[in-house]
Amino acid sequence: MSRRRQIYEGKAKILYEGPEPGTIIQYFKDDATAFNAEKKGTISGKGVINNRVSEHIFSQLTHIGIPSHFIRRLNMREQLVKQVEIVPIEVIVRNVAAGSLSKRVGIEEGTPLPHTLLEYCYKDDALGDPLVAEEHIACFGWATQEEMQDISSMAIRINDFMAGMFAGIGIRLVDFKLEFGRLFDGDFSRIILADEISPDGCRLWDLETNEKLDKDRFRRDLGGEAEAYQEVARRMGLLPEGGLSEVLDLDSERKKRGK
Ligand code: TMP
Repeated sequence: MSRRRQIYEGKAKILYEGPEPGTIIQYFKDDATAFNAEKKGTISGKGVINNRVSEHIFSQLTHIGIPSHFIRRLNMREQLVKQVEIVPIEVIVRNVAAGSLSKRVGIEEGTPLPHTLLEYCYKDDALGDPLVAEEHIACFGWATQEEMQDISSMAIRINDFMAGMFAGIGIRLVDFKLEFGRLFDGDFSRIILADEISPDGCRLWDLETNEKLDKDRFRRDLGGEAEAYQEVARRMGLLPEGGLSEVLDLDSERKKRGK
């Protein structure tokens, strides 16, 4: 990895300069953080799974006409993506009350929402990513109203697709987080989906038992987080019969052979 220039190291990913101008390599780490990195740990094999899960979802979204930064997966932990200017807004899509929404408005976790709720947080670690209104976004120029139109309509379409996909494998899509970026073409830019979609940024509950199959297992010290991520990948058909160990063995063999 020393041959490449590191652009940025985030909590769960490292970004490297890509092979061509305008491209970036996303490297998925096993590191996990919660509560604005107050809690730190690792989830074994998470990077490999998130890389695959995100590849799968972004590829499927391309088929339904959602433009994204994803180009292709390069190996177990890396994918090639288009370089974008990240819009400094985290878009939270909610179908069922949970987490910070339940706390903020006093609705019991697990209560279905009458319709899909979009929330926006201003991406600023020092401020703890505060919840903001569309008026703040317009007022401070974080995104134009036209861009917010594109973002909100894509978020709803992404939710429709993902809720159906997960329901098909016995998983309730409770909520999730999206990030978008500006792809520049000369003076013009258009909004495309960026970052990742994985059990790190989604709440995924088993449809039958409501068992949590996502990062809340880590956030809330429930244990079994590595197994939960593997279960999601397995149901999505992204893990071989032998499970993650088979994939990780392949990964280390390949490294040994220098491929
Ligand atoms: P919240 O209920 O804590 O606001 O989280 C809503 C969803 O957004 C949940 O699926 C987890 C995801 N999320 C992130 O991906 N990153 C974050 O920093 C936070 C706070 C939430």
